[in-house]
Amino acid sequence: MGLTMNHSGSHKLDLFQTGDQGHITHLPVLLAESLSALMLRENGVYVDGTAGEGGHSQAILLSEPPVRSVLGIDRDRRSLATAQLRLAEFGSRFVPVSGNYSDMASLAEENGMSSVDGVLLDLGFSSRQVELPGYGLSFQTDEPLDMRYDPDGDITAEEIVNTYEERELGQLIRRYGEEPRGMSIARAIVKQRPVTTTGQLASLIESVVGRRPGQRVNPATKTFQALRIAVNDELTNVGQGLDAAVGLLATGGRLAVISYHSLEDRIIKSFFNREAATCVCPPSLPVCVCNQTPRLKIINRRVIKPSEAEVQTNPRSRSAKLRTAERI
Ligand SMILES: C[S@@+](CC[C@H](N)C(=O)[O-])C[C@H]1O[C@@H](n2cnc3c(N)ncnc32)[C@H](O)[C@@H]1O
Repeated sequence: MGLTMNHSGSHKLDLFQTGDQGHITHLPVLLAESLSALMLRENGVYVDGTAGEGGHSQAILLSEPPVRSVLGIDRDRRSLATAQLRLAEFGSRFVPVSGNYSDMASLAEENGMSSVDGVLLDLGFSSRQVELPGYGLSFQTDEPLDMRYDPDGDITAEEIVNTYEERELGQLIRRYGEEPRGMSIARAIVKQRPVTTTGQLASLIESVVGRRPGQRVNPATKTFQALRIAVNDELTNVGQGLDAAVGLLATGGRLAVISYHSLEDRIIKSFFNREAATCVCPPSLPVCVCNQTPRLKIINRRVIKPSEAEVQTNPRSRSAKLRTAERI
């Protein structure tokens, strides 16, 4: 195993970790930083709300002195099965649970945990979900437009692009993709319906947005982000997940959240600010009437970003931001 970890967060990490099937697994982002943010406690109980293939969970379970257990939640049963195989050596200390992290309170309770010492959320999707066939998340391949992390999820990207009204689709692409050309892209999609594959959608977007010579970022990136967020209802889950995490944390427990785009980060920042505030009355009120009791203390006001060395090794980490708060 290419990794050893202690509670101070110092670590030795091979450039690439090979999973049990011999493939290159997702490289956990801000690994040392998120572990030290969690301030792991000996015999503590932790929730990894986005366990994926288990990179962060593995590091938590390897820490010294040892924690008691990690509840590893993920909507994607396929990734979770890999995590389970990979973390088999930890036996019942790793508890894999297929579900939504916004339901972590009930999932924890079902597994005998009424409160926990720390919660980690590493939002979005893993590089494996983009690389592996079947998810329909990649514009580099041509496959059915799905984008669901949970194969039983309510709606696919294909349903959205082929059934939403043009205006609604344009607004979705503008809002969740922060794509200024959202309306033009929606118009082109509606004209070419049915749009059924990732490749078809990517080339249609490129025909609308164009690609500057030497442009590294694929012009479909923003639209794919928008559809992925909508399909998986990601922003709603972030808000509900943060609230559930705070409810589950024991006093002094840490909540560490890694996000990858500004829409998520804004939600986390304002949630932390609200939960750390001693008064949430409108500024127009002359005296405080809200009786607000803060539930969180913000640990780092400035986001923690990956080092240059990490970005070099793992370009996907480039946009990552870590925020941490403590339950009071
Ligand atoms: C960035 S990956 C996590 C990778 C993991 N930390 C690791 O090191 O292997 C994000 C994971 O979150 C999962 N996910 C996204 N939204 C979720 C939700 N609402 N509930 C549970 N899991 C979710 C995705 O399926 C994906 O596996």
